[in-house]
Amino acid sequence: MRKRVVAGNWKMNTNIEEGLLLVNEINNLVKDLSEQTRVIIAPPFTHLATISSLLKSEKSRISLAAQNCADHESGAYTGEVSPNTLSDIGCKYVIIGHSERREYYNETNEMLFKKIELVLKAGMSPIYCIGERLQEREQSRHFDVVSSQIKEVLYNLNEADIERVIIAYEPVWAIGTGKTASSDQAEEMHEFIRGVVADKFPSCADNISILYGGSCKPSNAQELFARKNVDGGLIGGASLSAVDFAAIIKSF
Ligand code: PGA
Repeated sequence: MRKRVVAGNWKMNTNIEEGLLLVNEINNLVKDLSEQTRVIIAPPFTHLATISSLLKSEKSRISLAAQNCADHESGAYTGEVSPNTLSDIGCKYVIIGHSERREYYNETNEMLFKKIELVLKAGMSPIYCIGERLQEREQSRHFDVVSSQIKEVLYNLNEADIERVIIAYEPVWAIGTGKTASSDQAEEMHEFIRGVVADKFPSCADNISILYGGSCKPSNAQELFARKNVDGGLIGGASLSAVDFAAIIKSF
């Protein structure tokens, strides 16, 4: 059975005090939820160790993710954060290849594959983000773009590793814009993504969780999550409100 996942990507928001407040609020709201949905939050790097201790002491069901990591294990890479240290402090997931990283920090598929390998080696799961830009959709190139983002990165993995990957389909034109993909557009792409994964990993594709991301909020989550190939969401803006984030989690 595929896992249902709702992950909150806080991006570069909150100071540590605000972050702790937000985690406590979310924790209280999801405490009694059934175990069926996996709840993940990805606060800024600076908050991870503190929040990790808090989640542990509360025996929380929230898991921790980092928003990025280095493409090397250790060494002379000033300012970078090793996947091993993220795993050491309790991260279970790392968001890899968010469109903001691809766009503003020139992250290539080649680099993203290296990061995914290291994340897996460190015992964590990558949340691998893919998705087309508006212009690419307007030119009807969206399937090609998404297909190469899968082939150039995930096709290099083996079967055991692909099962540990979560894919997040985030059309770039829907991120932070308030413009959500319709549930038909999302389902069409998610089905396509599963098919591309199945071409290389026929026995695994059905077990992989594919999340939708891009202006997902309480008002549209239920319709999106009801679709056959949508296994949850990667939530940006709405994950900064505990009430909205919990409402999204409860939309299954
Ligand atoms: P959004 O961001 O929900 O604010 O559109 C989603 C994301 O970037 O992961």
